[in-house]
Amino acid sequence: MKNRTHTVLLGVSGSVAVSRAIDLASQLAKGGYLLDVVLTAGALRFVRPLSFEAVTHRCAYTDESPGILGGRAIHIELAERAEIVLVAPASADLIGRYACGLAPDLLTSILLATAAPILLAPAMNTRMWSHPAVRDNVALLERRGVRVVGPGTGLLSCGVEGPGRLWPVDELYAKVQELVPAAAHLLHSSKGRRKELAPFGQRPFPLPREEDKSKEVNEMAEKKKPAKKTASRKTEKNSKKAPASKKK
Ligand SMILES: Cc1cc2nc3c(=O)[nH]c(=O)nc-3n(C[C@H](O)[C@H](O)[C@H](O)COP(=O)(O)O)c2cc1C
Repeated sequence: MKNRTHTVLLGVSGSVAVSRAIDLASQLAKGGYLLDVVLTAGALRFVRPLSFEAVTHRCAYTDESPGILGGRAIHIELAERAEIVLVAPASADLIGRYACGLAPDLLTSILLATAAPILLAPAMNTRMWSHPAVRDNVALLERRGVRVVGPGTGLLSCGVEGPGRLWPVDELYAKVQELVPAAAHLLHSSKGRRKELAPFGQRPFPLPREEDKSKEVNEMAEKKKPAKKTASRKTEKNSKKAPASKKK
């Protein structure tokens, strides 16, 4: 399978949307990605690691996992082998801990230790999502280069209609597919060796963002416009001059 060489870390935190993370894990595994799933204590209230292990055929990790993996501290090993980190669903609590630089658990330790690009797919009640504390945390993380996907708007499990739904699983899968090649290129040298990079939070997001792409397109369009304007101004000038020369 073509994606077999790419490792994706899927972080899962405590939201009612965790069941959809199992579908996402299943899609990523079927797509051939090597998938490391890390569940927070909050996620474990909703789901067991076995649900993910059954679809990925790999060990899923929790705060209770042995501290050493592959001869290294588990958070370092998982942080270093990930080529992209996607947290779906990302709870308000997880976002807050990460924004504050706290690392009391395995997933937040990985988020601080990794050099890989990070995507967060938040899922929560509309009022939680609209709360200024959450808005500020999200804005801070975006400024640090974290890409936030969603949330979508619709009828939430709490019965409220509004923003807060986990972004559709198919689209999260497509995002990973789109970003992994650039992320792998960023992390590995031409000889396939891992590059020595600073933690992710110390660098601007290295992959093209949607806004940047559309900005580029707009800029290109803008560049073209002045040329037309100059031409039309010239003709305006000429047309203004013309009557003046007539006066002469
Ligand atoms: C039934 C139930 C549903 C919850 N759903 C969400 C949710 O969708 N999003 C969210 O941010 N928090 C939700 N919470 C609160 C989190 O589970 C709680 O903040 C937890 O500490 C998150 O832990 P974690 O970030 O370590 O996963 C829910 C709690 C309960 C009891």
